Amino acid sequence: MQGREQWATRLGFMLAAVGSAVGLGNIWRFPYIAGEYGGASFLIVYLICIFIIGLPTMIAEFSIGKKGQLDAVGSFSKTAPAKPWVIGGWLGVITSFLIVSFYAVITGWVLYYMFSYLTGSLQQVEPGGVEEYFGGFVGDAFLPVIWQFIVMGIMIGILYFGVQKGIELSSKIFMPLLAVILLVLAGYGLTLDGAGEGMSFLFVPDWSALGDPALYLAAIGQAFFTLSLGMGIMVTYGGYLSKQTGNRLPGTATSIVILDTLFAILVAVAIFTAVFTIGAEADQGPTLIFVVLPEVFNQMAAGGTFFAIFFFFLVFIAGLTSAISLAEVSISFAMRQVNLTRKKAALIVGALITLVGIPSALSQGGPLGDFLIAGLPFLDFVDVLTDSYFLPIGGLIVVLFVGWGWKSKAALEEADFKYQAFAKIWLFLLRFVAPIMIIIILLANLFGIEV
Ligand code: PHE
Ligand code: NA
Repeated sequence: MQGREQWATRLGFMLAAVGSAVGLGNIWRFPYIAGEYGGASFLIVYLICIFIIGLPTMIAEFSIGKKGQLDAVGSFSKTAPAKPWVIGGWLGVITSFLIVSFYAVITGWVLYYMFSYLTGSLQQVEPGGVEEYFGGFVGDAFLPVIWQFIVMGIMIGILYFGVQKGIELSSKIFMPLLAVILLVLAGYGLTLDGAGEGMSFLFVPDWSALGDPALYLAAIGQAFFTLSLGMGIMVTYGGYLSKQTGNRLPGTATSIVILDTLFAILVAVAIFTAVFTIGAEADQGPTLIFVVLPEVFNQMAAGGTFFAIFFFFLVFIAGLTSAISLAEVSISFAMRQVNLTRKKAALIVGALITLVGIPSALSQGGPLGDFLIAGLPFLDFVDVLTDSYFLPIGGLIVVLFVGWGWKSKAALEEADFKYQAFAKIWLFLLRFVAPIMIIIILLANLFGIEV
């Protein structure tokens, strides 16, 4: 029997985790929510949430995986034998499987947009016509499925090569590339006419926004989503840590969190400088990147097509690396649970994810557009179910387990803090602060408070 796969280097592990973290959450969700809740004032609350809830939870997930040296389910049951905590692992597998099924669909839209700019068809759309163009594409009976298949193919191709030659190697190439593209786009954005307005929208605080309770809920929710927490990913990635690559986890996790935050802020700079340049509305929600931004690109006096191609390439790579981490949770699980080889697991799990994603691909005005669950199209239903319920429950199980269920001496040994004071704060946050905040989020979702 072959030894279990492991990360080659600590840097490679960190970049893979950054690859997971940096995704649509940074590029679409963060700028939009920040805009809605007063820009800079949201940013302050968000940063606090990231550091008092997100970071401790990430360290907790890595520690469980590092201890268990297995997939999400295996690591939980090895760390807490014969205890119900393993539900956290199962929930992680289910949640990540469901999320990646539609995440690949949306990443397919992004790739189609990049392709459309490359072939020259999207920049020829009449001003004001992008909404119809988008509707026509997502409502088509075949196109969204074809692009979903292409994304799934690329993703499975990478995962087929395993942890070191697939995930780690691709992250080492993609992440620096993303950083360069983003710096170019943000730099270019700063030269546009709308730069001043965009920057003040983002960075000049509107203190009255702090009085809105929804702002705090949005900040906590975004902290979890953006760091890929609560769905078994960081447990799974932690399972590939050795004693060397996994020492001093708090330091690595801090770097990951800082990089994710920098990406979010730079993307917001690139987007809002462009949006204000043509005087478009900033708070457009879901259609921001598929409808508003292309209008912006098409109306830019110079460089619009260039900006567009690089932007959609950026979103595509960010989406792809996040999708990889989501699918790896199930692949790693299948390899242990049903004893498959890496290659077989990648193919079989990949095929299953694709199948479950097809109804999502056809649900946005396509053949399944009228098939509603709980009043929602399939894709939206799976999104809300995972985002609003499964994800916080998964996160809650993690923090309760590490805070209360696991012997603190054992947990601290895995986390490997350099400073004892931080170790104490970590346990305190996991025991009290994080669970309370997560429960508040869950209740808010249950009772339908709009965030
Ligand atoms: N963290 C990713 C982002 O910010 C989103 C994501 C969620 C990725 C869930 C994987 C799993 O976009
Ligand atoms: Na993110």
